[in-house]
Amino acid sequence: MFDLSAAAATLSPAVTGTLPQPDFVQLHHEDRAAVRAELMAGLLAPQAFTSPKYLYDALGSRLFEAITELPEYYPTRTEASIFKAHATAMAALIPDNATLVDLGAGNCAKAASLFAAFAPARYVAVDISVEFLRQALGSLQAQHPSLPMLGVGMDFSSSLQLPPQAGNGPNVLFYPGSSIGNFTPVQALEFLRQARSACIGGGLLLGVDLLKPRELLEPAYDDALGVTSAFNRNLLPHLNQLVGSDFLLADWQHAAFFNAAESRIEMHLQAMRDVQVRWPGGERRFGQGERIHTESSYKWRATDFEQLLQSAGFVSTQAWTDERGWFAVFWAAG
Ligand code: AVI
Repeated sequence: MFDLSAAAATLSPAVTGTLPQPDFVQLHHEDRAAVRAELMAGLLAPQAFTSPKYLYDALGSRLFEAITELPEYYPTRTEASIFKAHATAMAALIPDNATLVDLGAGNCAKAASLFAAFAPARYVAVDISVEFLRQALGSLQAQHPSLPMLGVGMDFSSSLQLPPQAGNGPNVLFYPGSSIGNFTPVQALEFLRQARSACIGGGLLLGVDLLKPRELLEPAYDDALGVTSAFNRNLLPHLNQLVGSDFLLADWQHAAFFNAAESRIEMHLQAMRDVQVRWPGGERRFGQGERIHTESSYKWRATDFEQLLQSAGFVSTQAWTDERGWFAVFWAAG
């Protein structure tokens, strides 16, 4: 299908007389009843848990951005150093006519930093809500007026089916930040299988945090300033808003530790005393020390992750790492 707005975006402002604007399409619509049901089921499970996606309300997203600047949180700056050192080699693998599909784009900054080495034919920024993308994509469009841009609001953790407005590819899926680590290995394999189908003729470029000693991992998730604690505890007011519960911040503390058997950092909220939590239609008593598991962050061995990519159907893969071997960026040809 001929995409008129994409074509218009390739014309210079001098020709159109207006500044080009990105297109937006919202596919995901929040089902509040389903969210409530999912959260209540997790809170009532013998080992209470919530999906890590609920850490990211407006304040949670800003707290996460602050985490990425902490001295203890090495993944963001280590990944950036790998992209900087190897951008030219990565760009050489990417087809000229590729659409760059940025999964979990947020402020679009990581993808934008690639544009100097790699000029895609189209940029598609994906996040759960287009509202998170409007401002960043608008200003990026002003800096790159001839690059067609689309913002897509979708929950790509459940399906990677892109809308027709994203074009016919070939797609290069960009999934930085080691967010794949927040999936269990089974979920990660399913995600990679879907990614493979979505990037035939293109590929997948993603960041993976590597297994390292506990002494390096634990401070990254329990920093001295307490930003990660605030990020985790901010889940409680968000839960109160989503399920109508009466969690009190003062009753709960942040706990983060490395679970070596599962090769993952676990984040929990731990009750500091016996507490009774109520919400419309339900309640639960948490004994002192009892926990709600709020996030897992898996740490991979590079060889195991390469095998996972192959199990998902990717035949040709390549990896770059930093000199300490803390983080890896993988390219998997689609
Ligand atoms: C988004 N994700 C990759 C982060 C991580 O490292 O697992 C989330 C995070 N949780 C605590 N600190 C950072």
